[in-house]
Order: sequence, then structure tokens, then C-alpha cells
Amino acid sequence: MHTQKYSSATKSISTKLLVLLGPPGAGKGTLADQIAAEYNIPQISTGELLRLHVRRKTVLGTRARTRADRGLLVGDDLVCDMVARRITEPDCARGATLDGFPRTIGQAKWLDRYLDKYYREHVPFIVLKLNVEEEELFRRLSARRLCSSCGRAYNILVRPPNTADACDFDGEKLITRRDDAQDLIHKRIRVYQQETLPVANYYRDKGQLREINGNAPVHSVAAETMRILQDASFPQRQRQCR
Ligand code: AP5
Repeated sequence: MHTQKYSSATKSISTKLLVLLGPPGAGKGTLADQIAAEYNIPQISTGELLRLHVRRKTVLGTRARTRADRGLLVGDDLVCDMVARRITEPDCARGATLDGFPRTIGQAKWLDRYLDKYYREHVPFIVLKLNVEEEELFRRLSARRLCSSCGRAYNILVRPPNTADACDFDGEKLITRRDDAQDLIHKRIRVYQQETLPVANYYRDKGQLREINGNAPVHSVAAETMRILQDASFPQRQRQCR
């Protein structure tokens, strides 16, 4: 694991740090959008950050693509480094929703160390695990489409574009994610079971895990999430980053 130092100052971080865990297609990204709207905290999606690097053809993007296109996880060092850079941006001063990170035990332990080292006053964050039946995951991912230009997400079953195959915002062509091919969905689910379920157990043992029935419609999953966050006194107050 890398040892690079990202900030000489120790900061405080609000309790609005939330981790979303769940298999591919569980609805992590969809839920993170709604949490962002409700609590005004940004979503940090490691999958989306990696896809951005791929679209920009960076060195990191090239390395990531060879793994992601095979349904495999990208190396911990690379992903942790990306999160460390993103979480120190000003819009994360009040917290963030980590969508799809951490997804290995190595990443989870890195996050604990990172927060301990660089953030004074950080309190244990909440980890929400979305549980969804495998058949439903295939149904959702087979219907997902992305804008080839801006990356906006659609679903031909539950969130269709106004015009078939065209993005509502820029009119560009909608495409299917490479890793949403049937064989790769299958592989990603297996990788989730092997690499990421232990992360859920790690947080369960630490008393940080909450589980949600993610098979329900989007609005029900969102409502249940907001209830959990309120019960956990997910605070509205703001602390200043030092
Ligand atoms: P990533 O992009 O994170 O993919 P993923 O985890 O496989 O998750 P998805 O984006 O497929 O699904 P989601 O749970 O966000 O569901 P969504 O809301 O889109 O990662 C891609 C790759 O990058 C990885 O395979 C790996 O290679 C690499 N990577 C990323 N993070 C990494 C890390 N930390 N470490 C190492 N490698 C990493 O919803 C899916 C569809 O269902 C949508 O069409 C949506 O409209 C629909 N939908 C959502 N909710 C509902 C609902 N309740 N009812 C009906 N439909 C719904």
C-alpha cells in the first residue's frame, strides 16, 4: 500500500461519510445521486472515476481498463490513491458518499488508517449494504444504457430516455457498458462475493453495517435509506475543515 502524504494539516470531517456496498447493479450509483440531493454531499464513485480516466485515455485509465473490461477489480494502490486525491477536494469538506469503495479488505483498512491519520474528530461512518437477488441484478444491468459523451445513466425499463438511444441532455448516442455483457456480469458478481462480502463482515463486526432490501423500487430504497440516516442522527450541521 502506498505511503504518500496528502496533507500536512490534520482536518476534521463531518459524520456525513457514508459507504455504499452492494453487488453490481444493486443501485449504489442511483442511491448516491439521491443522497447527494438530500444531504448536499458529493458522490465519490471509484467506478465512475476510473471510467473518466479511460475516456481521457490517461495512463491510469489504460491500466484500469485492462482489469475492468475483464470484470476484475483494479489494484488497491491505484484506487486508494484516487480516493485520497478526490476526498481532499473542497466539495468533500462536509463529507461524501463512497460508492463502490472500499471493496476489498485492503481498501477498508486503508480507509481506516487514512481517516485516523489525516482527519481529527472523524467519527465512525455508516456503511449501507444493498441486498439484491441475482436475477434482478441481471435484469437491471441488461437494461442499463450510458451516454457515450457525458456518461449520464439510463435504464430502458425504469428510467428510459425521451428518445430511444439518445441522451436527453446532449442528444448523443446511448451505449451499453462493456462490463454489462452477460458473462462479465456473472464474473463481477463472483468477484463481489469473494472480495467484497468480507468487507461487509468487517464493518458488521465493527458495528457500522446497516442492510437494506435493494430489490424494492428506487423510491422505496431511497425512503428506507433516509430513515436509517435519520435514525443514526445523520447530522445536518456543518463543521469547518481546518
Ligand atoms: P462500478 O462502476 O462501481 O460498478 P459496480 O460496482 O459493478 O456497480 P454498478 O455501477 O454496475 O451498479 P450500481 O450498484 O451502481 O447500480 P446502478 O445505480 O448503476 O465499477 C466498475 C469497475 O471498476 C469494477 O468492476 C472494477 O473493475 C472497477 N472498480 C470500481 N471501484 C473499484 C474499487 N473500489 N476497487 C477496485 N476496482 C474498482 O443501477 C444499475 C441499474 O439498475 C441502472 O440502470 C438503474 O437505473 C437501475 N436501478 C437502480 N436501482 C433500481 C431499483 N431499486 N429498481 C429498479 N432498477 C434500479
